[in-house]
Amino acid sequence: MKDAANPTIYLKDYTPPSWLVEDVHLTFRLSPKATRVVSRVRFVPNAAVSDRSFFLEGEELSLIWARIDGQDVTPQVTGQGLTCDVPEGPFTWEAEVEISPATNTALEGLYMSNGMYSTQCEAQGFRKITYYPDRPDVMAPFTVRIESDLPVLLSNGNKGEAGDGFAEWHDPWPKPAYLFALVAGELVNLPGDFTTRSGNKVELNIWVRPGDEDKCDFALEALKKSMTWDEEVYGREYDLDIFNIVAVDDFNMGAMENKGLNIFNSSAVLANARTATDANFERIEAIIAHEYFHNWTGNRITCRDWFQLCLKEGLTVFRDAQFTADMRSEPVKRISDVLDLRGRQFREDGGPLAHPVRPESFQEINNFYTATVYEKGAEVIGMLKRLVGDDAYARALDLYFDRHDGQACTIEDWLKVFQDATGRDLSQFKRWYSQAGTPKVVMTEDWKGDQFSVTLKQVLPATPGQSDKKPQVIPFAIGLLDRTGQEVVPTTLLELVEEEQTFTFNGLQARPVASPLRGFSAPVILERETSKADQVFLLAHDTDPFNRWEAGRQLAKSALMEMIGNGAAPDADYLDALRQLVTDDTLDPAFRALCMGLPSEDDLAQSFADMGRTPDPQAIWDGREVMRAAMADVLSADLMPLYDRHLVRAPYRPDAEQSGKRSLTNALLSLITRRDGGAVAQGQFADAGNMTQQMGALSALLANDLGSLELASFAEQWAHERLVMDKWFMIQVAHARPDLAAQVADALTQRPDFAMTNPNRFRAVFGALAMNQAGFHHDSGAGYRLMADWLVKLDPVNPQTTARMCSAFQTWRRYDADRQGMIRDELLRISALKGLSRDTGEMVGRILG
Ligand code: ARG
Ligand code: ZN
Repeated sequence: MKDAANPTIYLKDYTPPSWLVEDVHLTFRLSPKATRVVSRVRFVPNAAVSDRSFFLEGEELSLIWARIDGQDVTPQVTGQGLTCDVPEGPFTWEAEVEISPATNTALEGLYMSNGMYSTQCEAQGFRKITYYPDRPDVMAPFTVRIESDLPVLLSNGNKGEAGDGFAEWHDPWPKPAYLFALVAGELVNLPGDFTTRSGNKVELNIWVRPGDEDKCDFALEALKKSMTWDEEVYGREYDLDIFNIVAVDDFNMGAMENKGLNIFNSSAVLANARTATDANFERIEAIIAHEYFHNWTGNRITCRDWFQLCLKEGLTVFRDAQFTADMRSEPVKRISDVLDLRGRQFREDGGPLAHPVRPESFQEINNFYTATVYEKGAEVIGMLKRLVGDDAYARALDLYFDRHDGQACTIEDWLKVFQDATGRDLSQFKRWYSQAGTPKVVMTEDWKGDQFSVTLKQVLPATPGQSDKKPQVIPFAIGLLDRTGQEVVPTTLLELVEEEQTFTFNGLQARPVASPLRGFSAPVILERETSKADQVFLLAHDTDPFNRWEAGRQLAKSALMEMIGNGAAPDADYLDALRQLVTDDTLDPAFRALCMGLPSEDDLAQSFADMGRTPDPQAIWDGREVMRAAMADVLSADLMPLYDRHLVRAPYRPDAEQSGKRSLTNALLSLITRRDGGAVAQGQFADAGNMTQQMGALSALLANDLGSLELASFAEQWAHERLVMDKWFMIQVAHARPDLAAQVADALTQRPDFAMTNPNRFRAVFGALAMNQAGFHHDSGAGYRLMADWLVKLDPVNPQTTARMCSAFQTWRRYDADRQGMIRDELLRISALKGLSRDTGEMVGRILG
């Protein structure tokens, strides 16, 4: 699509910067609608480049004056930036601009949120603060002076001078502008400290608004654990005297790794037992770790250009997943990550928004902070580690940090490090970065004499702009079990490099049962003919916990597909196997809770589409209800004893052990509530001393059309806690009956405490509506209409969040003609808007195809 105002940027067009920056001085005179920013930037010619043209990015800035080497100049200014005649050699650029943080609702650049100033510069927000070469391959040390009467004034790096109405900060580590941050406000801090293994004492702070002091302890502990872990596992130490974390209510994403001054969505940092669920605690621990780990993978070594985003994000997600596995349960973390990967990344990879882990073009880079770049990017690193082995991975990472510290790098640099450390040719592996789409692996088995052979064939689907693909190297972990459940071949890594290959295991006494793709060793869709008996067997006996769960999931899915597609009754063998597993107290309760989960509505819809059948959202919803009722029946005698045995009555701890028990009891509670009319759930709600049990009870009630009293008392209890009220908004839409979902969401948007300027609140309602598949896709079209109405309203206010929410429509082509027609109309209505943002314009354009 050609669009003059929103040009497409291509990776192949990359050129290095003409000018480099030696250092930067910034002075901020803060004022809500008229902040002045004075910059002094020392430019030096880039000796590696002959072109000397000079361009500074700048958007939504009023230029007050500009000087070069002290002389006034008059640059040519456009909406994108400015140019100016400049000397041939090094020079000093100075400029003053005015900006208006108070009216910046896009939450990009410098903005205000509940009276505090905050910034978000990644990817291209710094250009809304001042004129600058806003590209990640220009790195410089920053000195910042903030002038304001607000008591807390923060920026990157170490503290400089401070006094009445001002504070100075100096960051000695060269960094790109996207890592700049500034915070000012009436904040309070939870202080702490950490001594690095070489003996440097680091001051730590969690900064929050008054009233949130009681929700900081967990984040501080998570930070210390992350700092220790990165020293122990990756040999990475922190490198400044201070590390600040700030919680902000209005934030587009989860958090941001600005050097020495991480800024967090308050939902990703604030927690105590009463206000946050176990899942919130786990997410906070992971995000704190993620942002901290970026200090090395992202900040010390950054990206040459935004196409290389996965260089820092894939690696950092991979690192935070390793951390969570170490802190908690490795199999539970793996299963949760695969659920998330299939739910978000496979969905993206299978539709109009599919793109490679390293995209080759974009209009708006914010649209590429995706599950593909992040989560598939992390899977790619997991595969690399599996292929080269743990020791070689460690050597390659040491070399990476050694060779590239202080540089802005590419995926080529990353792979070269592995090639040099291991001698392995990674040219085929590199296709994982350039070919979009989820590979399908078709597996067939053969048994002859004492030989068991496995044939694997890879099928690489066409994706937008990519029709024919070359085979990728697929690490395929497999184990073989005998009929008693003993491993006859332990986990073995097969490397599928051709389109089709056969692997043979000799000397077996009897035909084994294969346990393929153990630990989900590659992000692929495995297709194989297998018997229900084998899956029941694996569910009971597999020694690989991931595959044990996977066997149960496949059984549940086949059973549901038969019920929904062919009117079958719930499968008795599946239910029986499930019952045995759930009642087995030798198994981790968290694992059992995961096994009780059913494939999502979206997952089932996609499976019908893959079979060439049009999914019926209402029938899928009904099928899952019938299955849940059958589960409650089969487990009827076990539910209460199990619940009583695992109910946590001890003082709350957010650790893996207690949270596993709570997820099991909450899963049981939703089945109990189906049978008892709500008595046990009402009791849990009334007694709950923590949010996990309170929410668990409320959702069990709502899922069974009960709980209106509890819903009202919840709102009363928590009216003053924004993050808790987000849950209240979300849960009603999530559990609304399909025919009522749009109505429930609509009513919530009319409340005085609904504010679309707060992305968390907007997502609570509309994220939940998109997840409520039968409600969103209800044949009245009310879900589509409501969503589009609000995207239209939000776009001029906050383009980034609007654009992300458009992905609710990305699966539209799998539905029937009526639904497709309704969705197309809504998408066309959005795309025809005058002044539509580049963000939303690009997303809607891609979805329409
Ligand atoms: N680098 C951040 C993280 O993953 C994400 C920031 C993205 N923000 C944005 N507006 N695109 O940790
Ligand atoms: Zn990140």
